[in-house]
Amino acid sequence: MTDLRTDTLDTFAEIFGRRADGLWSAPGRVNLIGEHTDYNEGFVLPFAINRRTLVALGLRDDRKARVGSSFADELVEIDLSELSPENLSGWSAYPLGLAWALTEFGVDLDAVPGFDILIDSNVPVGAGLSSSAAIECAVAVALNDAWQLGLDRPTLARVGQRAENVAVGAPTGIMDQSASLLGQADAAVFLDCRSLVSEVVPLGLEAAGLEIVIIDTGVEHAHATGGYAERRASCEEGARVLGVESLRDVSVADLDRARDLLDDVTFRRVRHVVTENQRVLDTVRTLREQGPTAIGELLDASHVSMRDDFEISVPELDLAVETAQANGAIGARMTGGGFGGSAIALVPSENLSRVFVAIDGAFAENGFGQPDVFTVTPSEGAKRED
Ligand code: GLA
Repeated sequence: MTDLRTDTLDTFAEIFGRRADGLWSAPGRVNLIGEHTDYNEGFVLPFAINRRTLVALGLRDDRKARVGSSFADELVEIDLSELSPENLSGWSAYPLGLAWALTEFGVDLDAVPGFDILIDSNVPVGAGLSSSAAIECAVAVALNDAWQLGLDRPTLARVGQRAENVAVGAPTGIMDQSASLLGQADAAVFLDCRSLVSEVVPLGLEAAGLEIVIIDTGVEHAHATGGYAERRASCEEGARVLGVESLRDVSVADLDRARDLLDDVTFRRVRHVVTENQRVLDTVRTLREQGPTAIGELLDASHVSMRDDFEISVPELDLAVETAQANGAIGARMTGGGFGGSAIALVPSENLSRVFVAIDGAFAENGFGQPDVFTVTPSEGAKRED
């Protein structure tokens, strides 16, 4: 076992004075392409990464739920009978919100025992790599096993999304939880967010000599407030005016007509979503037919669309993308909800150090804070560890 796993079990024993019943983990995610398409019932292509959240859990004889973590001193305690979104706040709203959200999927909290949970994580927080979904999904698989619920992974993803939407209060889509639960090594998850049918698409990065570089700009973003909800509202307004259920029902060929019906800003928001859906489909086809070295232009076009049409980039993300592109990346784009967080670049191994050095230099020259630059590997989704 790696240190983090042993540490988590040891800390659980220290805090709760007994051994855990088991250990579960779930990864953060990177979205390869398909941004702000999930809540428009469109397509996404994320993958799970080799940064994980661990959850040690022990069932109790009573009905108390207690959660501790390696990142906050407090131990939060609540009776299962009192679990409701109004009673939850702070970081514990993620694990406890997940337990509450299960009630919306048929779980009777009067019929299950309480639990002690300890959470540990090496998914960076605030980097746009879904540290929150990693917590939700690790707790989801832990409770699913410990309470013997028998829920399948697409359902657990929906439970995680409900926790995020209602208990945490962020109006996000289904992508992050799906990636964390369905990911597989060296592959991406191609998800139709309308039907929730998914397919695993092999990436073949190692065979192609490619690395995925993350440039965490350090610019903070939060999706419970501000821009994210505004963009979502614009998309809903666009769909309403166009007379469709969601922007999934609009194709690239419909855009000319849409331009006549929508104001300029709403039209550009709609154009991003519609073209991005097409880029996801094109990326999946290109990966299958030509492999990962051929998807660079699609990544680049996705960034331009987010920068100019959806307007969710920031100068630090644009600089990261442009610098990577100018120093040997095959393609680059901001990833995640935007307004900060991280960019990704697809880089041939031999250009890796050049990209790292160039990004550090460019950020310093522009007076931006030092970014955190590292590589990630597409990895397997949530699982029981011990
Ligand atoms: C955040 C949300 C996701 C998705 C992305 C944008 O990561 O949690 O549901 O909407 O933004 O693609």
